Amino acid sequence: MATAISIKNVHKVYAKGTHALKNFSLDINSGEFFALLGPNGGGKSTLINIIAGPTKKTSGTIKICGLDIDTHREETKFMIGVVPQEVNFDSFFNVNEVLTQCSGYYGIKNNQKYIDEILEKLNLQEKKFANTRALSGGMKRRLLIAKALVHKPKVLILDEPTAGVDVELRHNLWNYMRQLNKDGLTILLTTHYLEEAESLCKRTAIIDNGSVVAIDDTKKLIKSLGNYKEMTLNFKDKIGKIPAHLEEFKARKISDYDLSLTFEPKELNKVLTAIKDLNPSDIELQSQSLEDVFIELTYKTNKKSDG
Ligand SMILES: Nc1ncnc2c1ncn2[C@@H]1O[C@H](COP(=O)(O)OP(=O)(O)OP(=O)(O)O)[C@@H](O)[C@H]1O
Ligand SMILES: [Mg+2]
Repeated sequence: MATAISIKNVHKVYAKGTHALKNFSLDINSGEFFALLGPNGGGKSTLINIIAGPTKKTSGTIKICGLDIDTHREETKFMIGVVPQEVNFDSFFNVNEVLTQCSGYYGIKNNQKYIDEILEKLNLQEKKFANTRALSGGMKRRLLIAKALVHKPKVLILDEPTAGVDVELRHNLWNYMRQLNKDGLTILLTTHYLEEAESLCKRTAIIDNGSVVAIDDTKKLIKSLGNYKEMTLNFKDKIGKIPAHLEEFKARKISDYDLSLTFEPKELNKVLTAIKDLNPSDIELQSQSLEDVFIELTYKTNKKSDG
């Protein structure tokens, strides 16, 4: 299968020393709908801004459909449509004018029919002649998506496209992106939301602290993330120091009287043995939520690099 986006050993160190991408490598196949999932500050926008152009990488190679973005800047710009995270329209033009101008930038003329089609799919047709300054945040974001599509790119890169978009429109947007992907567009999407990755993307990578910490089929990834049990032990007396032998179960105090343990289901017997002599007054067992596991996973890698 052809590779649509190939990222190899990319480093980015910002002027003030933040090492935002660390030896980052990732290959996205042609026709894929791929999610890059990660917490705030993980490096998602840095990566996208490097692919899009405004940010320069410190080292490494990026290729779009086999062409190096450094040596084939113009060609690769035509191949990609990028929706940046920051929405900033500062023009006196209306929606239609913005899209016509943007087409002109790519040397495309007389594409009103296509522009109308995009506007309709993005539920923006009623705003066709509205000044961009008069759009709501969610509308501006959808206009950014329209802008990224006017030149019919092969690869669409979206930086948190649904942030600030309400639930109903979010689902419309998801459907539209699904359709674009079905029609052959390769899509790379960044998001904070596991749900979004799960609903749209066959494969997902988790980026944290500038590196890929996990990559897999989205369903498998989520299954492996979510396969944890959490046990809460309640005690009549205040908990003192956490017994050392509970460390392997990630023991932590959640209050003066409650202790939480996290472990894989197969470790249940081991845990029961470990807590035998503690005499808790109550025990609760539940499956850890996916969101919790995700936070824990990324928190762990952050801690590792801070220490
Ligand atoms: N222009 C910049 N100058 C200096 N540091 C930056 C700049 N942009 C981002 N950073 C730093 O690089 C790291 C990665 O930031 P980035 O914006 O890529 O993360 P992100 O994954 O997109 O986060 P979010 O989910 O909040 O959008 C952070 O530590 C951030 O402070
Ligand atoms: Mg970002």
